[in-house]
Amino acid sequence: MRKRTLLLSIVVAGIAGAAAFGWVTIRRGFSARDNPSAMEAYVAKTARKLSIPASEREAKNPFAPTTEVLREARAHFADHCAICHGNDGSGKTEIGQNLYPKAPDMRQSETQSLTDGQLYYIIHNGIRLTGMPAWGGPDKDNDSWRLVLFIRHLPQMNTQEMKEMEQFNPKSPAERSEEQEEEQFLNEDQPSNHAVKPSRQKH
Ligand code: HEC
Repeated sequence: MRKRTLLLSIVVAGIAGAAAFGWVTIRRGFSARDNPSAMEAYVAKTARKLSIPASEREAKNPFAPTTEVLREARAHFADHCAICHGNDGSGKTEIGQNLYPKAPDMRQSETQSLTDGQLYYIIHNGIRLTGMPAWGGPDKDNDSWRLVLFIRHLPQMNTQEMKEMEQFNPKSPAERSEEQEEEQFLNEDQPSNHAVKPSRQKH
């Protein structure tokens, strides 16, 4: 009899716990504007850490940070990653700041303290249930290793490098022709000959 009461209490407590969790989750809503709670962030980071095999964590980068390798990685980052992470890796972009979880500031120690192997693994495989896509295929890829070197370089980025990256940020044909027109307009001797251009929507 006592055993049955104990079992019943456990079941009731379980149901009450699940109901409370459900209630809190629903009340909190599913908006991506929020930041994950400290508990959620801790569980997610721990699960991510545990899911990276030890051999991968300790893997060594086959590339050295030469000027050429870094230049290539900067162009790649500007083309594929900056839309969320920003050219400077701050994560301060419209998409990066409105994802759940948000794109982190990769210049900070939380990212910089990850090993090369962990960074490679994250870039190659992505992060499940977040906005971070997997960039590699089933085989090892050199591009992700080069990007690791670029991430290490982020805290020392200079303005010239930032400027150079802007050329590689994806743009639609309309944006490119608008830029061209603007350039022509600015180089024109008599700007008053030009009609006023309609401004583009921000979103
Ligand atoms: C669609 C948006 C998006 C794009 C594009 C994207 N990322 Fe991410 N990335 C994220 C988000 C969001 C996170 C944070 C995930 C988390 O908190 O677990 C992240 C996390 C990371 C991390 C882990 C940083 C840390 O401290 O946890 C690395 C490294 C990274 N991204 C590199 C890249 C690289 C390199 C590219 C381009 C090849 C890229 N990302 C493209 C959204 C993106």
